[in-house]
Amino acid sequence: MTRQRKTPETLRSARWFAPDDLRSFGHRSRLMQMGYGPEDWTGRPVIAIVNTWSDLNPCHMHFKQRAEEIKRGVLQAGGLPVELPAITMSETFMKPTTMLYRNLLAMEAEEQVHSQPIDGVVMMGGCDKTTPALIMAGLSAKLPMIFMPAGPMLRGNYAGRTLGSGSDAWKYWDERRAGNLSEDEWVGIEGGIARSFGHCMTMGTASTMTAIAEAMGLVLPGGSSIPAPDAGHTRLASETGRRIVEMVWEDAIPETIVTEASIRNAAIVAMATGCSTNAVIHLIAIARRAGVDFSLDDLDALGRTTPLLANVRPSGKGYLMEDFYYAGGLRALMAQIGDKLDLGCMTVSGKALGETLEGATVYNDDVIRSLDNPVYHEGSLAVLKGNLAPDGAVVKPAACDPKFYLHEGPAIVFDSYPEMKAAVEDETLDVTPDHVMVLRNAGPLGGPGMPEWGMLPMPKALLKAGHRDMLRISDARMSGTSYGACILHVAPESHVGGPLALLKNGDIVRLDLANRRLDMLVDDAELETRRAAWQKPADKIGRGYGWMYAQHVSQADKGCDFDYLEEGFGPDADEPEI
Ligand code: FES
Ligand code: MG
Repeated sequence: MTRQRKTPETLRSARWFAPDDLRSFGHRSRLMQMGYGPEDWTGRPVIAIVNTWSDLNPCHMHFKQRAEEIKRGVLQAGGLPVELPAITMSETFMKPTTMLYRNLLAMEAEEQVHSQPIDGVVMMGGCDKTTPALIMAGLSAKLPMIFMPAGPMLRGNYAGRTLGSGSDAWKYWDERRAGNLSEDEWVGIEGGIARSFGHCMTMGTASTMTAIAEAMGLVLPGGSSIPAPDAGHTRLASETGRRIVEMVWEDAIPETIVTEASIRNAAIVAMATGCSTNAVIHLIAIARRAGVDFSLDDLDALGRTTPLLANVRPSGKGYLMEDFYYAGGLRALMAQIGDKLDLGCMTVSGKALGETLEGATVYNDDVIRSLDNPVYHEGSLAVLKGNLAPDGAVVKPAACDPKFYLHEGPAIVFDSYPEMKAAVEDETLDVTPDHVMVLRNAGPLGGPGMPEWGMLPMPKALLKAGHRDMLRISDARMSGTSYGACILHVAPESHVGGPLALLKNGDIVRLDLANRRLDMLVDDAELETRRAAWQKPADKIGRGYGWMYAQHVSQADKGCDFDYLEEGFGPDADEPEI
């Protein structure tokens, strides 16, 4: 799609700064108050650098510095950089879950650029939900945008052992609970598991979402794989600053980049990287912001034909993002599956995806596998349906013990996280390895915010007997770094009367992965009786942002966006009166 090039006169910001009238006098005089002169703004694109830095986001600790490096690039290319702080969401510190606030950041970032004299945007994110939030914002703001990923942190290390974010925390915690780890070792792991700035360096939600952003065309080629402390990451920042200025002149708005084809590319890449289950929700939300029809069924279909090639934890055998970068990074992985991608999709580099992959090389074929030697023959996610999940549920087959692919067992059901947490510590709990552990009231409304509780902790009694996996089901999400036979995102959730609410202790639950089925073997008449007796739990948030969230959030299979933020809800807001 060729668009008319912008001129100094047609810049959006020129509406604020160019006219010879009282309002523009005010705008110019306030720029002068900040020490700028006409040579700083006249005919120059104003570039917003939306910075999600905070003292409580360790993954974005370097963003103050990176923002300066982006500004350097913007200035070199003849733009005027302005840094706009936006709410950040540290996956670690924000409770009950960052997912509750993804849409808040999306709204904030969109409104900031819409209401101010901005021509183009660099969105700085990386820690889990910040990436989808900022992409959603950019799609709705409809101004030229580049996503600047935080980059993964360095490999963790303790006593010569490589440690991966999340995954190794869960693993060693189970060993500690089983009595196999000393206090000293535990403290050593605590100090070594996160030893640089940057986002989690497993293929968790952060690495998955930044890979998706790049595959969709929104990151400069190769950018998402560069470790945060690498000098190349600084160069990525300044190049991003230079390029966004040119994108403004080209009027390269997101709709020239994010299309049905580029969203499919992103989903295929997500499958080939062993993506976090969270990616499902975010991808659907992003698609709906772009006005693209993309569903769980589309994802499942792509998963069946896309092998998992990235041998990166938690799905793979122990490599981390740093290894993935040295092995060639995302460009090398995309080149491996080039036949499956639409290489004609445009990217923020100004080149089509295919051109950006030229020369991409795999330097370690154990880390980035070839199509004939995949980590897993299918993609990393499968979508299940059945009488327990009429609108769908998600499972990560490559991360669970294959003996559960076809499984029947009695349900052991918990109504709340605290109840479950207490029960699993009880060594006399009546549970066998065949049991199917269920947590409900943990969905978008029940959690609220769909907390990452879905890797339900293994009962201590089973751990001590040597078991490390069992079939688990919830309407929650789980961390992208989690693993195990965990079925997630059951929709509709129990809080709104989804069938999970009707399950009872001892009911037989059946998973049939090959046929993508998840059912409770309870007859329809009995389910009707139970449904008639079911009572909706009380809402959890009575005021404030949480109240608004509860009125407008969609279920997991629809992306958990607010209805009124999706493309097509109503006409776009007019450009503000000046
Ligand atoms: Fe920020 Fe994992 S805690 S990406
Ligand atoms: Mg995470």
